Amino acid sequence: MIGLATGSPVGITGLGVNVPEQVMTNDDLAAYVDTSDEWIRERTGIRERRIATQDEALTDIALPAARAALADAGVAAGDIDLLVCATVTPDMLFPTSSALMADALGMTDAAAYDLLAGCTGFMYGITQAYGMLASGLSKRALVVGGDVLSKILDWDDRSTLVLFGDGAGAVVMEPVRRGGFLGFELGADGGGGIHLCYPGSGSRHFDNPHSILKMNGREVFKFATRVMVSSAQAVLRECGRTIGEVDVYVPHQANKRIIDYAVGKLGVSPEKTVVNVDRYGNTSSGSIPLALADARAEGKLTDGALVLMTGMGAGLTWGSALMEWTNGKGAA
Ligand code: ACO
Repeated sequence: MIGLATGSPVGITGLGVNVPEQVMTNDDLAAYVDTSDEWIRERTGIRERRIATQDEALTDIALPAARAALADAGVAAGDIDLLVCATVTPDMLFPTSSALMADALGMTDAAAYDLLAGCTGFMYGITQAYGMLASGLSKRALVVGGDVLSKILDWDDRSTLVLFGDGAGAVVMEPVRRGGFLGFELGADGGGGIHLCYPGSGSRHFDNPHSILKMNGREVFKFATRVMVSSAQAVLRECGRTIGEVDVYVPHQANKRIIDYAVGKLGVSPEKTVVNVDRYGNTSSGSIPLALADARAEGKLTDGALVLMTGMGAGLTWGSALMEWTNGKGAA
């Protein structure tokens, strides 16, 4: 799916993030599997990640992010009429984490649903929210992206354990005076889905369910390097913009080598690229909002800045969005 955001302007007016307190370094992981800080840093760029405690579930991590996003936008919870939560690790399948969060936040009039698109979930979530806002169906939306992948990892598998971390982010989306989202590109390839899967997690019966995440790292690497470039190029082309015009590039934080490859192929300067995979690892649906928060902390999200975001993940799925950042609702 590809398209221009031709409806009335919709932007991000509030942003909040949250990660668990517990830091786990590469050396800490060497207590679980045969690995080393050197191997992990060289192959992935990751130095440490945040890991939820036994008692912490998705909504425990996502709710502070949601509250921070609302406060940032200056919006009361009761004024949100749509809550989308992108995650592959909800507290439980149902009640949905979005419904639980809407209740905890006091969003009595909000539609709320979970969205499952792997690490691309946040990109799918903001695209759907845009559609609802631009058409007038929704007036103000909260899109949450977050995961606690540590709960579904195989803690004996060194090829997956070292890659992931826990975290969440949230954005308030609403009409803005100008700028905002310019276009989106989303895709899925279930044919490659087997390369990153969670068997036994649903209604398909497996004799040996192995209810843990499984990944063919090399295949996912090939897929990731391809779609990180093709999706970004497609959305830029659709919007009639060039990579040279992009002020801030926010790639999914899976592996520094994948980011470096995309940066080189796209021809975007490393200074415009947000990288925090060293501190958080791959936080799945939390990755893009966490990177947006770092971009803002670094002073990159100035009013009118052209922001390119691209995610990819399980499904296999991918998605890009191009937007002109607005501070608040944008200058009159
Ligand atoms: N520590 C030490 N050695 C390791 C580790 C580890 N943590 N993991 C694997 N190895 C070993 C392997 O066993 C292998 O040993 P062998 O040669 O004796 O068989 C060797 O290192 C090389 O393994 P490769 O798989 O070839 O290593 P590669 O350079 O491809 O890196 C990696 C592996 C990091 C997983 C890479 O393939 C990758 O990043 N893939 C993409 C993963 C990804 O992005 N997934 C998530 C995307 S979607 C989402 O966000 C959910």
